[in-house]
Amino acid sequence: MDVNGKVAVVTGAASGIGFALSKALMAAGARGVAMADLQADALEAQATAAGGLAVPTDVSDESAIGALFDRAEAELGPVDLFVSNAGISPKPVRDDNAHWHQQWNVHVMAHLYAARAAAPRMAARGGGKLVNVASAAGILMQMNSAVYTATKHAAVGLAEWLAVEWGPKGVDVSVVCPLRVATPMTEGTPDSGTVRDGVISADEAALRIMDGIADDRFLIYTHDPAGAYWAKKAADPERWIEGMTRLKQKIRGAATD
Ligand SMILES: NC(=O)c1ccc[n+]([C@@H]2O[C@H](COP(=O)([O-])OP(=O)(O)OC[C@H]3O[C@@H](n4cnc5c(N)ncnc54)[C@H](O)[C@@H]3O)[C@@H](O)[C@H]2O)c1
Repeated sequence: MDVNGKVAVVTGAASGIGFALSKALMAAGARGVAMADLQADALEAQATAAGGLAVPTDVSDESAIGALFDRAEAELGPVDLFVSNAGISPKPVRDDNAHWHQQWNVHVMAHLYAARAAAPRMAARGGGKLVNVASAAGILMQMNSAVYTATKHAAVGLAEWLAVEWGPKGVDVSVVCPLRVATPMTEGTPDSGTVRDGVISADEAALRIMDGIADDRFLIYTHDPAGAYWAKKAADPERWIEGMTRLKQKIRGAATD
């Protein structure tokens, strides 16, 4: 998709990758970007900096996603691109059900709610694009967090299903699988698991995502090694598990929690 002149929605836009992507979309000539986040004050400041429209939103609430989409359309025009990027850190590591439900709601259900709100309307007017930010943990793993690994895998699976369902109706679907990006989410966390291969800035990640959007790629990597790791895992899953087990044992002593 050529984003020039298009209207976009970006969630999780008060921080990190979402803010960087909102700036990149505006710099590439987007007609407008509705920037959504839970953190209303930070969002207001970031929207002013990026030239976007601040729409405080809790993406785990389906009616709030519907209201976000309606407001974006009312104030900016028909939405061409919906980027579901909001996410929650797997830190501190917890294993209670409330934490699982919260991560499930933000990492999976929010993507479903966005697709329900956006895809039918995009298809009815000739097309559009959904971009779901998952993680390399969704194709590999986040060895310190079962819930992050499971919900990001679910996000990748959902995106694949949506791509097959909506592609023929004119709505492209992409899923973004970053390795480590320097954002508030990763600040102060030890370098471990899937994330040893080059930390990049949020602005660099946003540029890689912009390239993926321009090329209409389904699977968008922000780091080159991610695809090679995935291929290795698919080629020999037992060897992959052995290697990850060894790595986890090696880093366990260095973990902070
Ligand atoms: N930083 C990384 O290394 C990395 C790697 C892989 C994937 N990701 C994914 O990229 C996305 C962006 O992460 P980031 O690193 O920019 O993190 P970040 O913490 O800087 O930004 C995430 C934003 O999402 C918002 N958010 C959380 N829950 C929300 C909710 N219910 N409703 C609305 N907004 C909500 C937060 O307020 C925050 O502003 C996430 O989905 C994350 O899982 C990040």
